[in-house]
Amino acid sequence: MVESNGSIYMFSGKGGVGKTTCAATTALHHASLGEKTLALSTDATPSLAHIFEIKGGQKPAEVTESLFIDEIGIPEVEEMWDRKFGREVYEVFSSIVSLDYDSFKEFMSSMLPGLADEFMVDYIRQLKLSGKYESIIWDTAPLGQTLALLHTPSMLIEHLKLAPRIYTNFKFGQRQKSSIMEIIKSWQKLSGDCLDFLRREVRFTIVTIPEALAFEQLDGVFKEMEKNGFKIGQLVVNNVIKSDESEFLKSKASQQKRYLDMIYERFSKADIIELAMRPYEIKGVERLKEIEKSLFQQAD
Ligand SMILES: Nc1ncnc2c1ncn2[C@@H]1O[C@H](COP(=O)(O)OP(=O)(O)OP(=O)(O)O)[C@@H](O)[C@H]1O
Ligand SMILES: [Mg+2]
Repeated sequence: MVESNGSIYMFSGKGGVGKTTCAATTALHHASLGEKTLALSTDATPSLAHIFEIKGGQKPAEVTESLFIDEIGIPEVEEMWDRKFGREVYEVFSSIVSLDYDSFKEFMSSMLPGLADEFMVDYIRQLKLSGKYESIIWDTAPLGQTLALLHTPSMLIEHLKLAPRIYTNFKFGQRQKSSIMEIIKSWQKLSGDCLDFLRREVRFTIVTIPEALAFEQLDGVFKEMEKNGFKIGQLVVNNVIKSDESEFLKSKASQQKRYLDMIYERFSKADIIELAMRPYEIKGVERLKEIEKSLFQQAD
C-alpha cells in the first residue's frame, strides 16, 4: 500500500500525537530499503535530531549512509527570497521609496501573507526537483501552522489576482509598472507550481490519537485537505492501548474504543493504521525499528 518509489510523505496532526515519531519511522523504513532518504522538518522547534539522537549542527545531518535529517526555518526562507527575487523586487521598490534591503525584506514578508510558508513548500519542491533524495519525509509543526502552510499557495493565487488592479493605479512610471507586473506574474507562477506540487507529489498522512479533542479536529483537517485537492494517504491512530492487564488500562482502553469506533465509522474510506502505545519513550534507531514493524507490517 505504501509506495516506495521515491516520493514525498508529509505527516501532520495535532500537537504531540506522534507526527515526528511516525515521520522518523517512515524515513528509517525508506532508508532501509536502500533509498537515499531525507527527513525534513518545517517545525520551528524540530525534534528529529532528538529522536535520532544526533548532536551537532551539521545540516543536513547524516544518521546512516542513506538517511539524512534537516530542518528549514526562517534563515533558509530568507536565503530563498534572496535567490529567487529579492534584489530584483527591491530595485523596483527602492526607485520609489527609500528603504534599506533588510527592512524591505521584513516589510515584504509581512505584507504578503504566508510568503514564508510558500517558500517552505517551494524549498521542498526544489529539493524534489534536484533529485538529490529518492524519498523525502516531511515532518511538520502542529496542525494550525501546517494548515496555514498548506492553504498558502491557493490563498496567494487569489490575493495576487487583485494585485495588478491595485498597482496600476499607483503613479509609477511605465517602466516601474511593467517591472511590477513581471514580479506579480512570477509570484503567481510560484504559487501555481507550489499548489500543483502539493496536489500531485505529496502523500499526506494524518496522525491522531483516540481522544475527544483529536477526533473533533479530524473532520476539519479532512475537509481542508479535500478543499485544496490534497490526497490523504493514511490515517494513523497512535497511542492505542492494547493491554487489559490492569483496571487502569482496561478503563483507558474502553474509553479509547469509543473514539476508535467513531474514527472507523466517520473515516471509513481512509486507510487507517493503529499504533499501540508503548510503555517507553520512542527514541533512537532501535526503538524506531520496533515501531517500523507495526507501521509497515500493516501497510505493506
Ligand atoms: N506509540 C507510542 N507509544 C509511546 N510513546 C509514544 C508513542 N508515539 C509517540 N510517543 C511519544 O510521545 C511523545 C510525542 O511524540 P512526537 O514527538 O512524535 O509527537 P509530535 O506529534 O511530533 O509532537 P509535536 O506536535 O510536539 O511535534 C514523544 O515523547 C514520543 O516518544
Ligand atoms: Mg513533532
